[in-house]
Amino acid sequence: MDNDRIDQIIDKHQGEASSLIQVLLEIQRENSWLPKEILERVSEKLQVSLAQIQHTATFYKAFRLVPKGRHEIHICNGTSCHVRGAQGVIDTVQDLIGIRPGQTDLDSKFTLETCNCLGRCALGPVIEIEGKTHSKMSPAEAKDVIKKYE
Ligand code: FES
Repeated sequence: MDNDRIDQIIDKHQGEASSLIQVLLEIQRENSWLPKEILERVSEKLQVSLAQIQHTATFYKAFRLVPKGRHEIHICNGTSCHVRGAQGVIDTVQDLIGIRPGQTDLDSKFTLETCNCLGRCALGPVIEIEGKTHSKMSPAEAKDVIKKYE
């Protein structure tokens, strides 16, 4: 994202420091994450210290300060999936790829997320990776699925 586009978004909010969260959300919607250079530009334009912006961006879970991995894994831990053993699937996937939900690995290969429902409650535990849904996952089956993306 170039500075002109960042400035346009900031100008839309009249350059008000109080619009920081809205500005960051809009930038992230377009850029998918918030690199340091963008935060520096926002800091300069909104006259808000970089430390304050980083504090805000780390406080709210919605903000992403590292790029997403090439493969996004969503594991449902909603009630139906949970009672069918989703936690065992989550634990296995975490051990396999070495990150916890909400994190991206150092090679930017995987981003792991948990969610509350993927709309297939009768078929849990459910994993979605690369937009493809895998149902009735056991920990061992989940491992096999993820390994195909390594
Ligand atoms: S609770 Fe897991 S798909 Fe609905």
